[in-house]
Amino acid sequence: MEKEILIQVKNLKKYFKVGKNATLKAVDGVSFNIKKGETLGLVGESGCGKTTCGRTVLGLYGATDGEVLFEGTDIHKLKGKAKKEYTKNAQIIFQDPYASLDPRMTVGDIIAEGIDIHGIYKGKERTDRIYELLQLVGLNKEHASRFPHEFSGGQRQRIGIARALAVEPKFIVCDEPISALDVSIQAQVVNLLIKLQNDLGLTYLFIAHDLSMVKHISDRVGVMYLGTMVELASSENLYAKPLHPYTQALLSAIPIPDPEIEQSRSRIMLEGDVPSPINPKPGCRFAPRCKYAKPVCSEVSPVFKEVEKDHFVACHLFEDK
Ligand SMILES: Nc1ncnc2c1ncn2[C@@H]1O[C@H](COP(=O)(O)OP(=O)(O)O)[C@@H](O)[C@H]1O
Ligand code: SF4
Ligand SMILES: [Mg+2]
Repeated sequence: MEKEILIQVKNLKKYFKVGKNATLKAVDGVSFNIKKGETLGLVGESGCGKTTCGRTVLGLYGATDGEVLFEGTDIHKLKGKAKKEYTKNAQIIFQDPYASLDPRMTVGDIIAEGIDIHGIYKGKERTDRIYELLQLVGLNKEHASRFPHEFSGGQRQRIGIARALAVEPKFIVCDEPISALDVSIQAQVVNLLIKLQNDLGLTYLFIAHDLSMVKHISDRVGVMYLGTMVELASSENLYAKPLHPYTQALLSAIPIPDPEIEQSRSRIMLEGDVPSPINPKPGCRFAPRCKYAKPVCSEVSPVFKEVEKDHFVACHLFEDK
């Protein structure tokens, strides 16, 4: 059975005014769906707009244009009670577990932040819920009275996960939740997120700057380049058959554990700098770094379209497919 769609993002734009006549187009016309219980990975180099996209989908930023439909309703048009309900349903896990936990608050109070804001539990029920959440993320109830500095990076990220889960959300934006952690801890946190998703029926937008860990957790993966979505496909398809020149370059940068394959394959080096998202030039944003670029590429923006079943690409090489 086809899964139901939970979130529909349609031509979403988020611009920031910078200086007098400059517009920074952090997210510039991005579209995707996320199905119930699914993980959509979102990857791309630092500064390409992943966090801005995640925050605009959560309603933490207003949208410059476009829509974010949650269960069919545009979240940027919500008011009052319905708006508050969305802030409960849609949570975030932050990139930096050191900066995102208030050092003066106990772990229990940090976890209960959402519970207190939404007035869900008080007294003993609140305490029991904190204990339950700590256990859910692999910590224990003695941890409730301690402070963030007493924990390792991996444990702090577990606290951040418990905080996000406290209000029983349906959807979580995981914004590079493992980037700041030791490699040895990364898989543990990813496996915890997968387990929680299965147990609680959660839907994730999982942001990462490289493609290696995203494959393991994502059902589908979207690749962003300078505010635009350049490719979107199932994880298997994207890794086995990347179509966009940028995705091909990103994938070729991941080491493969098999030394024979690793030695025989060629790396595509990304040349040139990431251009600025301030007043971007017309045409394909990847053109200055693309070895296949043709004249049309720097004049006309390629359309993001389905070139094979469930495989979307924005590139002039696929325009007539
Ligand atoms: N509040 C803001 N004001 C102005 N520019 C911003 C703001 N937030 C992000 N940006 C800019 O938007 C672009 C995308 O940033 P971000 O979404 O953080 O990218 P990523 O998460 O992919 O690293 C960057 O050029 C960044 O400098
Ligand atoms: S549209 Fe042109 S410049 Fe852009 S990725 Fe495709 S071939 Fe390269
Ligand atoms: Mg970011």
